[in-house]
Amino acid sequence: MIIVTGATGNVGSVLMAKLAEKNIPARAMTRDASKAKGLFPAGTEVVEADFADPASLTKAMAGADTLVLISPAHPDMVAHQKAALDAAKAAGIKDVIKLSGLGASLDAPIRLPKGHAEIEDYAGSIGLSITPIRPNLFMQVLLGDAGSIAGEGKIYAPAADGKISFTDVRDIADVFTKVIEDTALRGKSYDITGPDALTYAEAAEKIGKAAGFPVQHVDVPEEAAREAMLGMGMDPWVTEAFVELFQIYRAGYGSAVLSDTVASVKGAPARSFDGFAADFRGSFAKAS
Ligand SMILES: NC(=O)c1ccc[n+]([C@@H]2O[C@H](COP(=O)([O-])OP(=O)(O)OC[C@H]3O[C@@H](n4cnc5c(N)ncnc54)[C@H](OP(=O)(O)O)[C@@H]3O)[C@@H](O)[C@H]2O)c1
Repeated sequence: MIIVTGATGNVGSVLMAKLAEKNIPARAMTRDASKAKGLFPAGTEVVEADFADPASLTKAMAGADTLVLISPAHPDMVAHQKAALDAAKAAGIKDVIKLSGLGASLDAPIRLPKGHAEIEDYAGSIGLSITPIRPNLFMQVLLGDAGSIAGEGKIYAPAADGKISFTDVRDIADVFTKVIEDTALRGKSYDITGPDALTYAEAAEKIGKAAGFPVQHVDVPEEAAREAMLGMGMDPWVTEAFVELFQIYRAGYGSAVLSDTVASVKGAPARSFDGFAADFRGSFAKAS
């Protein structure tokens, strides 16, 4: 049995649907089982647990042999995921397939890839086999800008002209599915990028083309972006994590190396940004 943490989220929910399509049994972990109603196919095993409650994690992991480890960017991400790894180890789980991030490294100068590397390292140190899946920025992050896109035809981001090899969440879920299906693929790390690197201006233009009205990127100073995120009530640690990521993108590291993981593991080309924009055009449409 596979247990999927973060199962109701961006990657987890798409992964759960793909596993159900393939009749691969998977237990979905959530803090609130009522969220699972309508989200997962009937009959999906759902377990309530919280990363901050080790006893709940112990119960959630019982009887599972593989852990799919996903949790949000959060001040306690490292502690939360280490607690899940401890519970997995105690439950006899041997294999962990983890949603990590591109550039994960103990030497990374910014908190998210460094934190992911610490978690990956910890898994190995307690004797678990770990398969880190390391995507670049999700294309679906742009769905968070649907309001300003539909309302003003604008995407505000402190990205300047940095290029980013945006990755479709559906490709990430496909790679997870392959690694779940084929144990020979485990124990290695997989970088995931889209097929090309785009500036925010290019991404905005593609969304506009799909949605049927012009969309522009508006570059914003870092301080204004920080204030806007804090003003929306975003946690200060998470805000700084995003500020740091955009520093990296502005410096050109978001486009560093295009990965062929999707093609080689899934056997089909990585989804393009044009395809993403077309598939989600309804989410960007202006209210009539
Ligand atoms: N966004 C990107 O572009 C990007 C790119 C590369 C890597 N990543 C990495 O991807 C990960 C996030 O993945 P995601 O976007 O799929 O996650 P997400 O949607 O942000 O969150 C996944 C789920 O985690 C659950 N959760 C939150 N707090 C919890 C807690 N205390 N205990 C148990 N469950 C909890 C929530 O489900 P319930 O409310 O149902 O409990 C939530 O739906 C991060 O590690 C991030 O660094 C993101």
